[in-house]
Amino acid sequence: MVVAWSDNLRRFKLVKSLNRTAKFMAKRDISGKSVLITGASSGIGWHLAVQLAAQGARVMICARRKERLDELARQITAAGGTAVVFAGDVADEACRRQLVDLCQREFGGLDILVNNAGIGAMGRFDEARPERLRQIFEVNFFALAELIRIGLPLLKRGDDPIVVNISSVLGHRGAPLKSEYCASKFAVHGFSDSIRAEFAADGVEVLLVSPSTTDSEFFDASIEDQTNKDWKKRGAMSPEAVAARTVRAIRKRRHEIILTCGGRILVWLDRLIPGLANRLMAKFGQ
Ligand SMILES: NC(=O)c1ccc[n+]([C@@H]2O[C@H](COP(=O)([O-])OP(=O)(O)OC[C@H]3O[C@@H](n4cnc5c(N)ncnc54)[C@H](OP(=O)(O)O)[C@@H]3O)[C@@H](O)[C@H]2O)c1
Repeated sequence: MVVAWSDNLRRFKLVKSLNRTAKFMAKRDISGKSVLITGASSGIGWHLAVQLAAQGARVMICARRKERLDELARQITAAGGTAVVFAGDVADEACRRQLVDLCQREFGGLDILVNNAGIGAMGRFDEARPERLRQIFEVNFFALAELIRIGLPLLKRGDDPIVVNISSVLGHRGAPLKSEYCASKFAVHGFSDSIRAEFAADGVEVLLVSPSTTDSEFFDASIEDQTNKDWKKRGAMSPEAVAARTVRAIRKRRHEIILTCGGRILVWLDRLIPGLANRLMAKFGQ
């Protein structure tokens, strides 16, 4: 009797662990998922919305410029997809709450939360007003973290849920004249690693995406540029390509992606020969 009981328990545990492995190995199905994307009015966020909707997801698109979001929603619905517009500032707590409430009301829940909204500034740290640091952290870090906090109850009940945080290669290696931005993206990196481990038991995955320079409106929209430099690099990735790689990583259940070869070299150089990385940054990074 005792032997039969322990046999059954072993079989039950085996089936459970096989199920877990099967889920881990199967690609995530995007179709039918409820997705919330911040910063969808341009660049990477715009293309993420288009591509996820094309794969059958229902997308809640958020940013401050409503006319841009309306245009995006028109494009998605014309292609047969579903998009709901929410115009607001993610740095505002009331806005974040309304956004999550709207996901519940319109979609009945939330399966994929994409924290993409981001801003930057260029210039020496010692010459900047303290507000610049605060403003960048409000959008790039606090809004992201607090949206995850209030979205988590829905995500826990979601279908194969995942949080996607759009960070940067500069969240792995700091660069001069972008100190506040780098600090905010390092915060996103560390925070993502922590919650990935914390949420594993809840079945909520966390993906950290680290693009290099991307040809979007990012540098034109920077809150301050004291450098007179042209930050848009030749050979920058297109926002469509960044979005495509992100969608692929969501499907393949990746935990972290660094999108370019140059980005990966920088990260490894910094880990293996930090002295050289520091010298190169001081000489060529500004
Ligand atoms: N471009 C790059 O070189 C690069 C490289 C690495 C990582 N990234 C990261 O990629 C993400 C997307 O940037 P992008 O390149 O696509 O730049 P982008 O075209 O400037 O897009 C930024 C988006 O964030 C939204 N946004 C900014 N502040 C907001 C706020 N307070 N509330 C709501 N939405 C806000 C903007 O919309 P509204 O102005 O309409 O609000 C816009 O839709 C950012 O997190 C950025 O840090 C960019």
